[in-house]
Amino acid sequence: MSEASESTQSPLVISVANQKGGVGKTTTAVNLAAGLTLQGYNVLVLDIDIQANATHILHRPLTEDEQGLAEVILEETTLDEVIHDTSTERLSIACSGETMVRVDLALASMLGREEALKRIIAESEIAAQQDFIIIDTSPYLGLLTVNALVASDYVLIPVSCEYLPMLGLKLFLSTINTVRKRLNDKLDILGYLLTMYDRRENITFDVENMMREHFKDLVFKDPIRINTRHKSSPAHHQTIFQYETKSGRGVEDYTRLTAAVLERLGMPQEHDEESEE
Ligand SMILES: Nc1ncnc2c1ncn2[C@@H]1O[C@H](COP(=O)(O)OP(=O)(O)OP(=O)(O)O)[C@@H](O)[C@H]1O
Ligand SMILES: [Mg+2]
Repeated sequence: MSEASESTQSPLVISVANQKGGVGKTTTAVNLAAGLTLQGYNVLVLDIDIQANATHILHRPLTEDEQGLAEVILEETTLDEVIHDTSTERLSIACSGETMVRVDLALASMLGREEALKRIIAESEIAAQQDFIIIDTSPYLGLLTVNALVASDYVLIPVSCEYLPMLGLKLFLSTINTVRKRLNDKLDILGYLLTMYDRRENITFDVENMMREHFKDLVFKDPIRINTRHKSSPAHHQTIFQYETKSGRGVEDYTRLTAAVLERLGMPQEHDEESEE
């Protein structure tokens, strides 16, 4: 495939990342992806986290002899071979599995080790047909996360309102800046998303004030509120749009986020396939 045809076709790649664990990365990756499909966009989720939580929600755990994204990175198969449709129309996933534990070490000795995921996306026909690729990352700053940032146009950073996040964010932002300088100068921060937002807790307002003061408009106006349904929907292998009714709080929050993301990207709120260039 020539460079020119790649760039006219290429989907927007968004990593959902923060090296802090349990801040709502997977919940956001899965439900933003689902939200975008409901607006008519084609979305592929790439699960590069060994915990395989997105895989569990959108597909099911891979069996021992099934290949996933790890095998693609290890060059044993191609991305198109491991992409699964999901129960949500227009939403597909390349799954994580146990082999992912070997990937970081294997990447370390690979030529072009930071750009493996970017190459994989560029070489995939199915990826080229997507409007968005959303990468769910692990809670650590290893080579796999760097691969995600190198492959991405944007990074969306969920920040939990349960603890003061500045120290961890400083470390993460310095990684983003290094990636920008050395490997991917087009990487942009799509925004900071306040998650686990609980009006009953003082810490929520402390975090919100600090984030808005520091990062201004980059903090999405509407947070993701604390909602136990985000904890129970994964057990049913469902996105929040499948698990809650239309008027549910989780649906409302992730619908708002989807709209805000499309607005920031300057993309239509509803994707009309007919009018595609
Ligand atoms: N808004 C919310 N309200 C309540 N619980 C939530 C919310 N968002 C996520 N959760 C739950 O909190 C836990 C952590 O969320 P999630 O798995 O999305 O975080 P993560 O950043 O992907 O974690 P990890 O770093 O381990 O990958 C999960 O049990 C999830 O179901
Ligand atoms: Mg996760």
